Amino acid sequence: MTAPPSLTLRTPDDWHLHLRDGAMLQAVVGATSRQFRRAIVMPNLVPPVRQSADAARYRDAILAAVPPGQAFDPLMTLYLTEETDPEDLRRGVEAGIVTAVKLYPAGATTNSDAGVRNLRVLDPVFEMLTRLGAPLLIHGEVVDPEIDIFDREAVFIERELIPLRARHPELKVVFEHITTADAVAYVESEGPTLAATLTAHHLRLNRNDLLVGGMRPHHFCLPVAKRETHRLALRKAATSGNPKFFLGTDSAPHLVADKESACGCAGIFSAPIALESYATSFEEDNALGRLEAFASEFGPRFYGLPLNKGTVTLERIATPVEADWPTPLGPVRIYHGGETLAWRLKSG
Ligand code: DOR
Ligand code: ZN
Repeated sequence: MTAPPSLTLRTPDDWHLHLRDGAMLQAVVGATSRQFRRAIVMPNLVPPVRQSADAARYRDAILAAVPPGQAFDPLMTLYLTEETDPEDLRRGVEAGIVTAVKLYPAGATTNSDAGVRNLRVLDPVFEMLTRLGAPLLIHGEVVDPEIDIFDREAVFIERELIPLRARHPELKVVFEHITTADAVAYVESEGPTLAATLTAHHLRLNRNDLLVGGMRPHHFCLPVAKRETHRLALRKAATSGNPKFFLGTDSAPHLVADKESACGCAGIFSAPIALESYATSFEEDNALGRLEAFASEFGPRFYGLPLNKGTVTLERIATPVEADWPTPLGPVRIYHGGETLAWRLKSG
């Protein structure tokens, strides 16, 4: 099938994004607001966004950093801790400040030290979320040092997710940035209160891309890319037209110097070329006709939010990607940096 010369989509949203704060926020927010109308903003700052008042302040800082002329709605999340107060959560959601709550198992990933050790103490928070109809967003990896890093997502399903969902079947859950065929199968097998996000990079990278021919720190993220059979399952889920799977980039800027180090940070910065990367994957699977629903419809439907009204256009023009995104703190490597992509987002 030959690809069309251009593709116009209802304006999409990014249902999983890291914007950081301070100078990094200033430098990166425009990369997302150029592509997406809304984004679910992760709360793993230092210190984390724990209370509704923190989320309100962070939201103001994001809005102040959006380039003039761009319309962008940051949808805020609270960082779940064992001290999260259900009443503060209720006030934040009812005031329209908080959209969702993010669960990081303690120590699972970047800035997750304040995360949760025992999910069971949080039942009052999960009951409040259920009552409010607000979703719980889950970084689904166990942190048990005895579990191999490549198995941590699959083990999380058995040990944590199934019991949690049995206790709270009506709670809306987004299993974030899934990386395994196990997660795809579990999400498919469950009812409409469970969905999953898929990143642009996990649709393209397997663990060979991380390790063969030398260690590639710019392909390192968490959950780590798995073997090829898993990547293929993710592709199939993304392009299937199943509304339980939708777009969430997990774009996560780190300085090149922090990634190319003896203990390189996890995170891939895909915001500047996110739609182009997804379009490349969907085209490879002859599924461009399903990109719009994945990028612009299934997410808002799951969250119970209106669909965006405008459109964006991708043009099929070979376009080289800059290696780095400049920031006052130093460069950040762009996912696909130095490659040529077949698609380009039309500006304006
Ligand atoms: O690769 C990742 N980077 N995974 C995460 O869960 C967090 C993120 C970050 O904040 O850098
Ligand atoms: Zn993330």
